[in-house]
Amino acid sequence: MSGSTNQSIKPVTAKVNQNGNLSIGGCDTIDLASKYGTPLYVLDEATIRTICKDYKDAFASYAKVNMMYASKALCTMAVSKILAEEGFGFDVVSAGEIYTVYKSGADMNKVLFNGNNKTVSELTLALELGVGRFSVDNFLELSLLNELAKSADKTADILLRITPGIECHTHEYIQTGHLDSKFGFDLTQVDEAVELILNEYSNLKLRGLHAHIGSQIFETQVYHDEIEILVKELAHLDEKFGLKLDEINIGGGLGVKYTDKDCPPSTYKIADVILKSLNESIEKYGIEPPTLYIEPGRSIISTSGVTLYTAGSSKQVPHGKKYVAVDGGMADNARPAMYGAEYSACVANKPEAETLQTVTIAGRFCESGDILIREISLPELGEGDILCVYNTGAYNYSMSSNYNRVPKPAMVLVNNSQSDIIIERETLDDLISHDRIPDRLK
Ligand SMILES: Cc1ncc(COP(=O)(O)O)c(C=O)c1O
Repeated sequence: MSGSTNQSIKPVTAKVNQNGNLSIGGCDTIDLASKYGTPLYVLDEATIRTICKDYKDAFASYAKVNMMYASKALCTMAVSKILAEEGFGFDVVSAGEIYTVYKSGADMNKVLFNGNNKTVSELTLALELGVGRFSVDNFLELSLLNELAKSADKTADILLRITPGIECHTHEYIQTGHLDSKFGFDLTQVDEAVELILNEYSNLKLRGLHAHIGSQIFETQVYHDEIEILVKELAHLDEKFGLKLDEINIGGGLGVKYTDKDCPPSTYKIADVILKSLNESIEKYGIEPPTLYIEPGRSIISTSGVTLYTAGSSKQVPHGKKYVAVDGGMADNARPAMYGAEYSACVANKPEAETLQTVTIAGRFCESGDILIREISLPELGEGDILCVYNTGAYNYSMSSNYNRVPKPAMVLVNNSQSDIIIERETLDDLISHDRIPDRLK
C-alpha cells in the first residue's frame, strides 16, 4: 500500500524550472500567464492519469468495479475524453453534463444519471441518448421515468438512491447521507418504492442501490457503515421480494489535501477499507458479490488543477491585515466564500523566495466575503506578480459564475511541455450574447 496524488497539495509535475519559476506539465507558468492571460485555470494531464491509475490499482482485487467519474467536480469535453480513455464511466446530474459527456464521444451505457429533481426534458434526453443507469431519488421520479420510458418504448435500468443515515465530519453543505437530507429515499420508504417498481412500473428495471455520504471525507469508518447498510438492504429485498439485486453504488467523497492541515487517506487505504467491508458484509448477509460502483469527483481532478492570478492593488490596514488583491476571486472559485474552504498558494515567478509576510488574498468581486485565502505566509507579493493557487481542479470552474459581469477564465491542459486551450476565455461579446432589448425599449 502506498500514497496517492490526492494526498499532495501540488500536481505531480509541479517543479521549479531553470528560470526559477513554477512549472507544471513541463510548462513555465509565467509563460502560460502571458500567453493565455489571467486568471487562468491550468490542468495537469499527468496528475489526472496518475490518480486514475491509483484508483484502478487500488480496486484491482475486486472483479466487478465500475469507476464513474463524478462530472460535477469538473465537466468539460477534454476532461471527459481523458477519463473515458482511462476506462471511467460518468456520474452526471444535468442535461448539460449529459450533453458534454455525450459530445466527447463517451460510451453512454457507462453513464449514470443522478439528482434529486431531474426534469422531464433531462430524463427524456437521458433516455434518448441511451444513458445506462438512472439513480432514482424519489417517488415522483419513479412514476415520471416510468411514463417517459413507456412512451419511448424503453426500459430504464435504475438504482434506488437511499439515505443511509450516516453523518460524516465534513462541511454541513457537502454532507449528503445523513437522515435529514434532501437526497434519496429514507430506508423506511424503500419497500414501498420496490413494490411500486415490481407491480406498477413495468418500464423500470431495478438493478441495485445507491448512496453517497458526503464530500471531502477523511474518515474510513463511514464507508464501512455505508456498505453494511447497503448490503443488508440488498439481503432484505431478496428475503422480502425474492429480488436478486447485484449492484451497489457507494458514491464518491474521498478528500484531498488543500493545506498542510489536511490528511486524506490514499486511494489504496480507502479501497482496502471498502473492499474489506464489502467482503465482510457479503459473508455476513449471505449475498452474491455485487458489482461495486464508485463515483469519485474531487479526488480525481482537484490536485491536477491550479489557478494563476495576477496580483494588483494592495492595502495595509493600519495595525491590521495586509490585503493583496488578484484579478479573480469568488466568481472563478466560490468555495472560500461559500463554505470557508482553505487553499495553499505560491508566488509562481519566485516560488522559492523567502516568505516574508502574512497576507490575505482578496478577490476582485464586489463582496467583502470575496477573500480567496486568509492569512497565508508568502514572499513579497506585489503588482504584476503571478499567484498560483493550488488544488483548484474540482468545484472551481464547475461552480463559476459571471458575477459582476466578469468573463469566465480560460482553461489550459498541460502535458509534456505542451499547453492546449480546453476552454476558451469568455469575451465581452459572449457576456451579452444572450441579452435581448425588447423593441419597445429601442
Ligand atoms: C451522488 C454523488 N456522487 C459523487 C459525488 C462526488 O463527490 P466527490 O467529488 O466528493 O468525490 C457527489 C458530490 O457531491 C455526489 O453527490
